[in-house]
Amino acid sequence: MESEKSMSPQVRSRAPGGAREIPTVTPGSGVGGTLAFKRDQLAFLGRGVDRYGDIFRFRPLGIPMVLVNHPDYIRHVLVDEGEKYDKNAVLFKIVRPVLRKGLIANPDMDLWRRQRRMMAPHFTPRTVSSFTRNMTDEAEQMLVRWEQSYGRGGTLDVTDEIGQLALRIVNRSLFSAQVGDIAQAFERAFGEANAILGAFFRFPFPPLSVPTPRHRRLRAAIADMDTFVSTFINRRLHEEVPTGEETDLLTLLLHTVDEADGQRMDLEQLHHEVLNICIGAYETTTNTLSWAFYLLARHPEVEAKLHAEVDSVLAGRTPTFEDLPRLPYNRMVADETLRIYSPAYQFMRRASSADVIDGYRVPAGTNMLINSYLLHRHPDFWDDPERFYPQRFTPEQVARRPKHVYVPFGSGHRVCIGKHFALSELVLVLATVARRHRLVLPPGAPEVRPEALVYPTADAAHAELMADWFTWLFLVDDQLDDGADGRSPQHLAEVMAAMRQVLSADDFGAADARRRDLPRAVSSLADLWWRTAPDATARWRRLFVRHLEQCLTTAATWEAGNRLSGTVPDEATYIEKRRHTGAIYVCMDFIDVIERIDMPDEVYDSAPFRTALDAACNVVCWTNDIYSLDKERALGEVHNLAYIVGYHHGLDRDAAMDRVTRAIGAETDLYLTAQAQLRRTFPGRAAVLEPYLAGMRSWMRGNVEWSSRTKRYQPTQTTTEPAPQEYLEATLLGSQG
Ligand code: HEM
Repeated sequence: MESEKSMSPQVRSRAPGGAREIPTVTPGSGVGGTLAFKRDQLAFLGRGVDRYGDIFRFRPLGIPMVLVNHPDYIRHVLVDEGEKYDKNAVLFKIVRPVLRKGLIANPDMDLWRRQRRMMAPHFTPRTVSSFTRNMTDEAEQMLVRWEQSYGRGGTLDVTDEIGQLALRIVNRSLFSAQVGDIAQAFERAFGEANAILGAFFRFPFPPLSVPTPRHRRLRAAIADMDTFVSTFINRRLHEEVPTGEETDLLTLLLHTVDEADGQRMDLEQLHHEVLNICIGAYETTTNTLSWAFYLLARHPEVEAKLHAEVDSVLAGRTPTFEDLPRLPYNRMVADETLRIYSPAYQFMRRASSADVIDGYRVPAGTNMLINSYLLHRHPDFWDDPERFYPQRFTPEQVARRPKHVYVPFGSGHRVCIGKHFALSELVLVLATVARRHRLVLPPGAPEVRPEALVYPTADAAHAELMADWFTWLFLVDDQLDDGADGRSPQHLAEVMAAMRQVLSADDFGAADARRRDLPRAVSSLADLWWRTAPDATARWRRLFVRHLEQCLTTAATWEAGNRLSGTVPDEATYIEKRRHTGAIYVCMDFIDVIERIDMPDEVYDSAPFRTALDAACNVVCWTNDIYSLDKERALGEVHNLAYIVGYHHGLDRDAAMDRVTRAIGAETDLYLTAQAQLRRTFPGRAAVLEPYLAGMRSWMRGNVEWSSRTKRYQPTQTTTEPAPQEYLEATLLGSQG
């Protein structure tokens, strides 16, 4: 049983002079920095709460952010002082290009107030009742489809099925059943926009304003949805208004007038609102229902109670709006699912002016983060928070808890307008499905855990090995860049010959003894090679040696030669060679080692694999070139794609950058197409393919992260470093042993 909890601490507003500072995440605190935040936001925030308590400050990517994780603080931000905290927070800025002036992200409070005033009457529990038939009709039709397709057994993808259902319900409620065929085009466009935005949330680069092919597809998808919405709006403008119970939301919104000025909303605004409703309604309900079915399948005792309620209340008939109060346990299951796996699990406000929360000073401009995943597990308010236990939501239990420790729909004036719509849908779909079916997990299905953001990780030993390889490659790269020293080419030839010997030896232990006699660069290579090679397959070793040799010889001869003579290579040759000089194939080879993959030749040598690999390598090289351009130009170097493109096409810096950025987008798309083709061509090879593909994607992403932050590419840094020749002398080639 939940026990009553004290509501400490109290929110007090102190004079700013006497205010205390919000605890700040510091290096060495064990919480982590920006990278840790990006890699696993939930773990980062969880560590922050453990270390600092219910309020703390951090700066991911330099953005001032404060997590508030106490019901009193949340009431303060969303309700008591809600007017002070606006939607100019970073999270909403990201989605504004899509949501535009609609309710969800609109920071203009006058416009928002007017819109909310006009729309709210169509979302009350009573008015939502006119849409509940859509919910049960569509759910029944889904069950008929299931019975036709899976009647004799089979496994269905519940998230996919429920996603289609949620979209049909919202489409039908907005545009009525006549939508028919074109609904599919809308579904496709919406699915596309949703997938692209989802990917953008996980990795917001480049900005949506950059016209990469993916972002152009997003714009096209938004344009398609706009066309769809305009078609319906125009049709409605010229036809009789349907009245009575079947009236859809679009008609209602089209004819609503604002009580203050007697005007309707303009058509552009109506557009934005309709899109906001689709976006607000689709993924949230889909995810909640998918989790609910998963949790029910994992908790037979809860499932049995839910079925008992459905059987006794409905006695075999389809549920209606009037049944909702008679299905309290179904509602408790929905509430508990929304507690454990809140779909809108993170939202934000920006402090428009300085404020004080519980004596803590909040500077103007701070982004206030509310994370309901953590709040809904706050140990002071929830007993055994990981347990799926719908009884927490009996009226008595709810009354014992502070209201703002449970905010799946937000709170205050910006609370979800679709809350009653969503809750009706959740309960009615649960009951409609439970009336006829029990959903069970396939045998051996793994436990599913939510993750804010997933990055493949290497174990510690591999991470160390990779770090050592990169250090070595960087040092050698710095030396190879030095074509000016007349002694270097010959010196390099000697070193390369010694390297070849190391790489071809397979008596790893015996060769170790000779290491002292080798030049330092070769000795350190030998060390790395002997730490890597014994665990690798013979095929991998052959491949890696070939790639490393191609890297070193191309860099030492072709690139160094060009630098020495000031020759600007042509674009095609540069692209072909750059992947070698940048050691990108070598780097990709590490994926096999990290993921312990033994890739079959049949897959590795196939056309889609080569395309995916080359495209991934190009993306890595070219994003690197974008960030290193200024340093290269400062050094008078020629090896950079943006430089080469600008040189050969007579483009200025911005135009050249733009061209390379577009090319990166095109290569990314090429990669994605090849990835899909690989999955189709080798359906039985998922165990080796998926980790490899994930590895390629993290190389592409990781390189942007690294290139944009490394000091290597900041021209100011280069002046304090020794000249390349001195560096070379002082580090590897000049010193033997
Ligand atoms: C389980 C389902 C849903 C969940 C968990 C959910 C969650 C939320 C949350 C947390 C907010 C507030 C965000 C903030 O304060 O920054 C919100 C706002 C909103 N939601 Fe929902 N939502 C759901 C379903 C729906 C549905 C079905 C619709 C439309 C029919 C909808 C439309 C909106 C709109 C338009 C807003 C903006 C309200 C405003 O600022 O005035 N949502 N939703």
